[in-house]
Amino acid sequence: MHKDIEKIMISRNEIAVRVKSLANQLDKDYEGKRPLLICILKGSILFFSDLIREMEIPLEIDFMAISSYGNGAKSSGEVRMIKDLDRSIENRHVIIIEDIIDSGYTLSYLKRMLYSRHPESVKICALLDKFERREVAIEADYKGFDIGNEFVVGYGLDYSQEYRNLPDIGILKRSVYEK
Ligand code: PRP
Repeated sequence: MHKDIEKIMISRNEIAVRVKSLANQLDKDYEGKRPLLICILKGSILFFSDLIREMEIPLEIDFMAISSYGNGAKSSGEVRMIKDLDRSIENRHVIIIEDIIDSGYTLSYLKRMLYSRHPESVKICALLDKFERREVAIEADYKGFDIGNEFVVGYGLDYSQEYRNLPDIGILKRSVYEK
């Protein structure tokens, strides 16, 4: 285990089992629909690549990067697009792939923005849901795990851009972010 990790919250094996079952569910629900899966950079990259690898139906992928204006502005829901999709989503079945829902501001902004482009449907698939922290009403249509209000890193999730490459999801030691 990494020296900065207090304990592993969700192991790589537990993640793999859950990701496989989400992929199976998506395969069933989107059969014949050729969905467009959107990876929200950067936290979602590992979840996204594992999920699409487990899916068997024909699908397409695209990438989007979003940034929130620091803490103060984040609670006002102000988010900004850094990288847009490459192609139109008009009449497409879109699935947003996120690593975590926290306050909900990012997804609420994204969903509104994507709907304005006239897709056939927009659904959310999130690996982690920190529901205690929610400030706007938004829910995942497909969810990996509910988690408490702990500082988690690994499997794409960072603290100060570090720890994204850890294969398990772990709780960061307080000493790391309180120093
Ligand atoms: C994280 C995460 C979500 C968002 C969730 O991204 O990937 O996009 O925060 O928080 P919210 O529900 O409070 O809006 P972050 O801005 O840390 O960027 P990253 O994915 O590049 O780490």
